Amino acid sequence: MSILCTGGTGFIGSHTAVELLCVNQDVVIVDDLSNSSASVVDRIEVITGKRPVFYKGDVADKAVMEKVFSENSIDAVIHFAGFKAVGESVQIPVAYYRNNLDSTLTLLETMKKYGCHRFIFSSSATVYGTSDKVPFTEDAKELGCTNPYGWTKFMIEQILKDAAAADPELSVVLLRYFNPIGAHASGMIGEKPNGIPNNLMPYITQVAAGIRDHLSVFGDDYPTPDGTGVRDYIHVVDLAKGHVAAYNYSTEHTGCEVFNLGTGIGYSVLDIVHAFEEANSLKIPYEIAPRRAGDIATCYASTEKAEKVLGWKAELSLQDMCRDSWRWQCGKWSK
Ligand code: UFG
Repeated sequence: MSILCTGGTGFIGSHTAVELLCVNQDVVIVDDLSNSSASVVDRIEVITGKRPVFYKGDVADKAVMEKVFSENSIDAVIHFAGFKAVGESVQIPVAYYRNNLDSTLTLLETMKKYGCHRFIFSSSATVYGTSDKVPFTEDAKELGCTNPYGWTKFMIEQILKDAAAADPELSVVLLRYFNPIGAHASGMIGEKPNGIPNNLMPYITQVAAGIRDHLSVFGDDYPTPDGTGVRDYIHVVDLAKGHVAAYNYSTEHTGCEVFNLGTGIGYSVLDIVHAFEEANSLKIPYEIAPRRAGDIATCYASTEKAEKVLGWKAELSLQDMCRDSWRWQCGKWSK
C-alpha cells in the first residue's frame, strides 16, 4: 500500500515524502512540476535511500489520476498540490478557484472509485481570517479569508467536511499550517520561491546572500511588543512529521477532524531578523516600510489538540529554522 502525495516535489510535500519514507511507508508522488523540479525525486532518494514512484501530471486531470490509482494501491492521499501565491490569487482569482477546487474534486471522485478512504489536506491558518483572538483554536467559529488563495483553502475544507459527512468510510484530516520555514538538515531540499519572495524567511535569506539589498519590514505600528507583525514559525521538518501523525490517526478514525500545525509561539518580524543574524553570524539590513494590505497583527496556534489527539508536537527551535534556511540558501539546489 502506498501514500499518494500530490505536490510531493514542492516545499512541504517533499519534506513529508522524506518523513514517510523514513518510517517505511511507500510513497507515490504526482506533481506537474509547475513550481518545482523533477530532480527533487532524486534528492529524496539520496536522503532516504528509497525512491518514491513519480508521475508528472496535473492532479485535476482525471486521466492522470486514473492511471495513478490503477497502477498503484493507494491507501491514503495527502493533498499538497495547489496554487499558493496570495498576491497572484488576487490578480487571477478564477485560475486559483479552478485549479485548487478541481484537483480536490478529481481526487475525491477517483478515491471513491478505487475504494481509498483517507484524505489529508494542506489547509492554512489563513482560514482564521482577521480575528484577533489568539491563540487560534480549531473550534473558532468566525472563519474568513482576505484573499482568493485563502478562500480556496476555506472552500476545500467545506467540500471535505461535506464529503466525510456523507460517507461513513471516509476519514478526512484538515491540517492548518502556520508559517513553515527552515529546510531539511541535509541542505538538499527546501523552499525555492519563484521570482521575488513574498514570504519573510526566503526574503531574509536572499538579502543575506546579496541577491536583494535590504528587507522591508511591513509596519512597525502593530499592537505587538515591538510593533512588527507576530507569526507562528514552524520548522518544515516538524510540519512534515505532523503529517505522519495525521496519517496514523486517519488509519483509526473516520469523519472529519481539523488540527493546527504550529509551535504555539509567536515571534515578531524583528525577532526573526535578530535570530537569523545570531544563528548565522551575519547582518540583515532592513528598513521599516508601510503595512502590507491584508496582514494581521498577530497569529499563532493553540497546539493543544494536535498534542493530545495526534501525539505530535513541534520540537525544533527558531535557531534550527534560521540555520537550516541559510544552509539551504547557500547550497546549490536553491539556485
Ligand atoms: N514580512 C515583512 N517583509 C517581507 C515579508 C513579510 O515584514 O518582505 C512580514 C509580514 O508583514 C508578516 C510576517 O513578515 O508580518 C510574515 O509574512 P509572510 O508573508 O512570511 O507570511 P504570512 O503570515 O503573511 O502568510 C503565511 C503564508 C500564507 C498563509 C499564512 C497563514 O504565506 O500562505 O501564512 O497564516 F496563508
